[in-house]
Amino acid sequence: MNKRFFVTFLVGSAMLAASCNSGGIRRNPGKIYAPDMTYSRAYDAYTENPVTANGLTSQEPVPGTIARGHALPLHLTAADTSAYYALQSPYKFTEAEMTEGTRLYNIYCGICHGDKLDGNGPLYKDGAGPFAAAPANLKGGAAYLNMTIGKMYYAVVYGKNVMGSYASQLNVKQRWQVLAYIKKVQSKNGGAPFTLDAEAGATTATANTAKDTAAAKPAMKTDSAVAKK
Ligand code: HEC
Repeated sequence: MNKRFFVTFLVGSAMLAASCNSGGIRRNPGKIYAPDMTYSRAYDAYTENPVTANGLTSQEPVPGTIARGHALPLHLTAADTSAYYALQSPYKFTEAEMTEGTRLYNIYCGICHGDKLDGNGPLYKDGAGPFAAAPANLKGGAAYLNMTIGKMYYAVVYGKNVMGSYASQLNVKQRWQVLAYIKKVQSKNGGAPFTLDAEAGATTATANTAKDTAAAKPAMKTDSAVAKK
């Protein structure tokens, strides 16, 4: 009996000592060989800092920083449209990718804008359809024929009046694929020449590089495309 009590006492006091130790303000590392390695002299993230101008250790990314996988700089608001309007496609598309763009257009846009892009899809039907607002006539409408692809991209991401956002249905590449298809149709109807054809520019060295970069690292291409702005 005595022995058992003694063991319990021993284990108990050991636990007590251990908990007191770890509950202390600072973990005691014992003998310290290199104190500046044990107790870092660097300022920790999210702490105050006497050195930086704004007094914070973690600094915000510099204006114009583009997060990996994003098309535009951070700190833009929806109202800050100029960067969007100037945006260019980071991609050039092959024949197969253009076909996919057409398919996506017919699924997501054609119901309103029409399979001929004339703004008269089955949901509108010259005003007889269930959707009351006239969709943009992307093929023949003077305002749309030479609308910048960046402005169109903005409409796809944020919507435009009664047209909703398609940002959740189409990923970044798919949005540009759809818009490339629209631009291609527009170029055949009086719009600016179509330039997102991966095969077309393959004769010049610069076009080749652009094509390779776009195919291999679309995100990186986006970065440099926007960084120029
Ligand atoms: C539910 C119907 C509907 C669908 C689906 C739809 N749109 Fe629209 N879209 C509209 C309407 C309506 C307008 C005219 C908005 C206005 O100017 O008030 C419009 C306008 C636009 C414009 C002109 C934007 C501007 O700044 O004036 C573009 C570009 C466009 N749509 C592209 C697309 C693309 C690409 C898709 C598919 C991803 C799509 N739309 C799907 C109804 C639709």
